[in-house]
Amino acid sequence: MRFKISLIAVLIFFLLPDLCSFGVTDFEIYEASALNQVIKRNKLVVGMEVKFFPFEYVDTDGRPIGFDVELAKIAAMELGVEIEIKDMEFSGLIPALQAGKIDMIISGMTRTPARARTVSYTQPYFKTGLCALISNKRAPEVSETVQLNAENRILAVKLGTTGDIVTARLFPKARVKRFKEETECVLEVVSGRADAFIYDEVSIIRHFALNKETTHAILKPFTYEPYAIAIRHGDFDFLNWLNLLLETIKADGRYEELRGKYFSDLQQRSG
Ligand code: ARG
Repeated sequence: MRFKISLIAVLIFFLLPDLCSFGVTDFEIYEASALNQVIKRNKLVVGMEVKFFPFEYVDTDGRPIGFDVELAKIAAMELGVEIEIKDMEFSGLIPALQAGKIDMIISGMTRTPARARTVSYTQPYFKTGLCALISNKRAPEVSETVQLNAENRILAVKLGTTGDIVTARLFPKARVKRFKEETECVLEVVSGRADAFIYDEVSIIRHFALNKETTHAILKPFTYEPYAIAIRHGDFDFLNWLNLLLETIKADGRYEELRGKYFSDLQQRSG
């Protein structure tokens, strides 16, 4: 009798936590996943700053278009849901994701170890690097990045981008001027108020082509910038689904088609 009671006590001791489920079940994890939420509400909400040609920009009717926009549309289509694009400041994207205002970020965003402490990233969908647009007026002699690390240099960067973060580390001697808009940074260089604008390769190639008279450029990337989709930490169902999607479109030709559409005229390294 005594033995029976203690056996029951031991069983209860070990089984109770399982029965009451102090942990979370697989079902509950999937319930909370953005993958499930998106399908349930029939809408994928994507955050981007629609000012990063040709990844995200607006057509003549003001509608978002571009490489990332089409990637987001493929995701929504494969999920069988509607899409909503929320246009916001680049520096506000990660906070918006963490606050649950958007399901994911696709915005030419570089995945970095520092950012990956706050959000989770998929595999890269585009590999590139930072380049420099240089002022003919202020820095005609500059042809290498080492020349930018000097006390008399002024470097324009877009607030919160990797150009901003990396410049402080790579060119500690230079003075950094931070701007909200990419266009302001270009203007600084064109007008000779800054020596250089440090930004992503594809943008620098374009600004150089548009300002051949007033600028030159360092077009050999001097950092590694893998663009990836960001989602909330801990959402493995959604992360797996997005990685599978990227793998699938890379294999079935849709990814190459998109690259051809938006980057055919640019000398791009494959990624
Ligand atoms: N790749 C850079 C970064 O992650 C710049 C991205 C800018 N994207 C944009 N939509 N404005 O910081």
